[in-house]
Amino acid sequence: MARFEDRVCIITGGASGIGAETARRYVRDGGRVVIGDVDEALGGAIADEIGDAAAFAPIDVSDPDSCASGVAFTVATFGRLDGLVNSAIRMGPAPLEDLSLADWNKVVDVGLTGTFLMTQAAGRWWIDNENPGAVVNLSSTGGLHPYNLAGAYSTTKAGVIMLSKQFGLEWAKHHIRVNAVCPGHTETPLTAYMRDPAVKQARADVTPLGRVGQPEDIAEGILYLLSDDASYVTASTLDIDGGMARSLFNHMPGRKWD
Ligand SMILES: NC(=O)c1ccc[n+]([C@@H]2O[C@H](COP(=O)([O-])OP(=O)(O)OC[C@H]3O[C@@H](n4cnc5c(N)ncnc54)[C@H](O)[C@@H]3O)[C@@H](O)[C@H]2O)c1
Repeated sequence: MARFEDRVCIITGGASGIGAETARRYVRDGGRVVIGDVDEALGGAIADEIGDAAAFAPIDVSDPDSCASGVAFTVATFGRLDGLVNSAIRMGPAPLEDLSLADWNKVVDVGLTGTFLMTQAAGRWWIDNENPGAVVNLSSTGGLHPYNLAGAYSTTKAGVIMLSKQFGLEWAKHHIRVNAVCPGHTETPLTAYMRDPAVKQARADVTPLGRVGQPEDIAEGILYLLSDDASYVTASTLDIDGGMARSLFNHMPGRKWD
């Protein structure tokens, strides 16, 4: 039996990159998905590409009413809800001394508050219906280490790790599992600078596994955490980064033994 047969998942930020690839693979593994995104054109196109097992819902994760409507739409369309992937993000790169309040809020509102609001909306449905659930939140290597010129992003992604642990503990009694993944550099529209072959090669060279990540690398980790294979995993964090986050000592000059 396919892993997600009779299961339904909402994927925010599902119109692009890691979210879109997770949606494709969830359906390939027997499930049905709702692509929740502010980009209606792209989100609709991804849902059409996937077929009848996918639907698009215009969800703005920074708006609690929109999150609640997304859950209601999902249940009205597919009859149930089993999983949630919080992949939506907006960036606001700048040195912290120059970062405007508007740019700070943009990143935090979507990345951290949006993860809170969407998880809360899904969890309320699960708790009210005594249904188990699984949530996977997209953090980042940037949530583990400060990320030069992306201070709002790093702070947001560190918050996502703690928020996932907090939800995981609070909701264990409801059989709702909440975990985070920390991707390293992954080739998506968000990281369009990696289309430059020189940049991509240079990044591959500093990655222990010798290549940059692809959306499918991250999607497979997300699907594991959504599935019953991870039924004993909650409040946990999975790094999917080719070893990058543990490679600090690879960059120390003066090593004598390699
Ligand atoms: N690509 C990487 O290198 C990388 C690395 C680490 C972590 N991540 C994380 O993975 C997740 C997905 O990244 P990606 O590279 O696929 O990004 P992406 O830019 O390809 O996709 C992000 C999606 O979020 C949507 N979005 C923006 N604001 C929204 C809102 N208010 N409500 C709903 N949707 C909204 C966008 O329309 C877009 O479709 C993000 O959380 C990102 O921080 C990515």
